Amino acid sequence: MLKQREHWGTRAGFILAAAGSAIGLGNIWRFPYVAYENGGGAFLLPYLIALLTAGIPLLLMEYSLGHRSKASAPIAYRRLFKAAEGIGWWQVGVAVVLAAYYSVIIGWAARYAGFSITQTWADNPDGTEDFFFNRVLQISEGYWDFAWTENGTWVGGVGWPLVGIWVIVFIALFAGVRRGIEMVNRIAIPLLVVLFGILVVRAVTLEGSGAGLNAFFTPDFGALTNPTVWIAAYAQIFFSLSIGFGIMIAYASYLRRKSDLTGSALTVGFANSSFELLAGIGVFAILGYMAFQSGTPVDEQVTGSIGLAFVAFPEIVSALPWGSAFFGFLFFACLVLAGLSSLISIVQVPVAAAQDRLGWSRQKSVITIVGGIGAAAVLFMPMTNGLYVLDAADGAIENFGIALAALVSIIAVAWIARKLPQLRDHANRWSSIKLGWAWMISLGLITPLFLMYMLFQATRERFGIVANREEGWELLRFGFIIAFGLIAFAIVMTILSRFIKLPEGMEDDA
Ligand code: PHE
Repeated sequence: MLKQREHWGTRAGFILAAAGSAIGLGNIWRFPYVAYENGGGAFLLPYLIALLTAGIPLLLMEYSLGHRSKASAPIAYRRLFKAAEGIGWWQVGVAVVLAAYYSVIIGWAARYAGFSITQTWADNPDGTEDFFFNRVLQISEGYWDFAWTENGTWVGGVGWPLVGIWVIVFIALFAGVRRGIEMVNRIAIPLLVVLFGILVVRAVTLEGSGAGLNAFFTPDFGALTNPTVWIAAYAQIFFSLSIGFGIMIAYASYLRRKSDLTGSALTVGFANSSFELLAGIGVFAILGYMAFQSGTPVDEQVTGSIGLAFVAFPEIVSALPWGSAFFGFLFFACLVLAGLSSLISIVQVPVAAAQDRLGWSRQKSVITIVGGIGAAAVLFMPMTNGLYVLDAADGAIENFGIALAALVSIIAVAWIARKLPQLRDHANRWSSIKLGWAWMISLGLITPLFLMYMLFQATRERFGIVANREEGWELLRFGFIIAFGLIAFAIVMTILSRFIKLPEGMEDDA
């Protein structure tokens, strides 16, 4: 007998889960500095355009694909034409790599939540930067210092919290869509909004916060003519909305038949961006306070993502007039909550793929896949060269994972299978807001053209760095290995798929 497909309990449950996937580490630690570096207040315009012309349209494409085929990525794409199944597997591969390193950052955040209580980093004579890189991560000099080499070890302080993170993911996915994923998000997301709200209120009432906000919002309109600013805006939107990974295909496949797809997509898209803006306000208010304290300009306080959360922030927390332990804990707890709900959605991609395409039970899928990725992450990532692996994986995923996968999937849907009109009609069927030509043009034309341009620029830049052995070229070599590995995986799976029987209920004519 056919198994019933799992379903969300309520529409709110689905929206919370989709928002939980979108709202993640990227909102809190990536958006603020990307926005700042790319024109501050003026960045918001390209960002909004990217949201409307690419983010929400692609989100809708994934919703309709998943909802229509009632299956996760490999099958959903296979329904377009057989060879397209490879796109789904590629997204599975990307999700696996992303999960492995994304979880590590959540593990650091969990450890830092603990450190906050005792302000452990304050005892370190050489400051929070030395504390993070040398004492916590124990980063080595060499890119290739794996644990089995002379200079490498496995760092328990990074590894054990990571075990905890994977145990939570295991439990949530094992419990299933409604009792696991939906339940976690019903608790985590409202809690996150409240806790983060408290942080932001505290931040904007600090002395000097106004200067920070000015730095953030003062537009540099010259930035609008700079192509890298537009690329940054599109890249941020893709990462932030969790699109191009097959996540939304899987999540939408658990919706009931009569679901308002467009309404949900707009809600999720705007909720995510609102949270992002809120994070920008909070972070810059705090940087303003820091600048005020040290008597230096705000721009000297701005650092990249990892530095911001794990180096600058601990220092700021310790310098607060009162409540250091409380607000430090709050901040890192927010990172953990935001990160976990995203991680769960990422891991659901391979789990759902094995269920739908290979016909595995949920239990078997979760034990094999969560166990496998979790074990790999726990064994390999907390090594002394872990940060290099993480950086390389992140670079590879951001460009070749998300952008290329998104481009290929759009070309398959819009140009090869020419399914946009059908997907539009499907989405419009039970939706409050109807999709029309604007959606088709955004998705079929603007987004792919932009993605092509983005990929061309990124590839050219990277090959140039590797060829000339400029700083960081070793890292990019790692990155290329990962990127080619992903492409090879997708090709192998496309070939294998000819021999793997489709499970009951997932046949091509079903
Ligand atoms: N959207 C998440 C964030 O902002 C990250 C993420 C990307 C999650 C891709 C899932 C898939 O951090």
